[in-house]
Amino acid sequence: MQIIKLGGSLITDKKKAKRPRKGVMERLANEMAASGEKLMVVHGAGSYGHHLAKEGKLNEGFIGEWQMEYLSKVHRDMRELNLMVMNAMIDAGLNPISIPPSSIAVYEAGNLSHFPTQLFEMYSRMGLTPLSFGDMVPDTKRLFSICSGDHIMRELAGLEGVERAIFATDVDGIYDRPPTEKGAELLEEIYPDKQVLTEVMYTDTTGGMAQKIADGLAIARKGVEVLVINGLFEGRLEKAIKGERVPGTRIRWKKDD
Ligand code: IPE
Repeated sequence: MQIIKLGGSLITDKKKAKRPRKGVMERLANEMAASGEKLMVVHGAGSYGHHLAKEGKLNEGFIGEWQMEYLSKVHRDMRELNLMVMNAMIDAGLNPISIPPSSIAVYEAGNLSHFPTQLFEMYSRMGLTPLSFGDMVPDTKRLFSICSGDHIMRELAGLEGVERAIFATDVDGIYDRPPTEKGAELLEEIYPDKQVLTEVMYTDTTGGMAQKIADGLAIARKGVEVLVINGLFEGRLEKAIKGERVPGTRIRWKKDD
């Protein structure tokens, strides 16, 4: 079993609100199907979600009733995006079944406190491909929270039989400084070595990559192989699922495990 996160910046054009990359979704769905492996799939928001979530200050938890309209719209937009991913997966023959976190997850002060992974297992055993996504969820302390796809990956990594977690993004992997900076080098692997990590954390401006590294390390700690790869290059996701070497970053819990 492998768990795959299709990053929001990969399946949408992050620069403009609600711009899906349908061709990319279709190709990735075909690559996942061609791998022949058993998968669970999670996708992010990209230009669906983040924009309105920011406007509605949804990452701050409850501030006022006015936020509810934003919460509802972000959830709707994520479902719209999810339907597109689902259609691409159906066309590829993956038989997806959508599991929205808003219907099953509970947060406590911004952390996932309840997530019934058993559902994913049961659907998978039926021969379906469980498909989840970043969504709005209730929070016992803050009234609501944003559930990121990376958090879901962390939960799924705890399931028995999960061997590999692949984060497909729109960059080649994790760099020693922002990839746009001159001289930036792709890190073939990272592990909780203070020096490497502080360097990488420091370079992240949005918090996105730093969070991904933290979630990746938490998954690697469970003994699951963690890869960050570029899904914009044809064939890389399929090869990575098959265990073939592709450019990217491996996140390890220990230097030589
Ligand atoms: C964000 O999910 C979900 C919402 C904003 C509702 P992710 O954090 O997994 O999305 P990406 O992959 O970074 O776009």
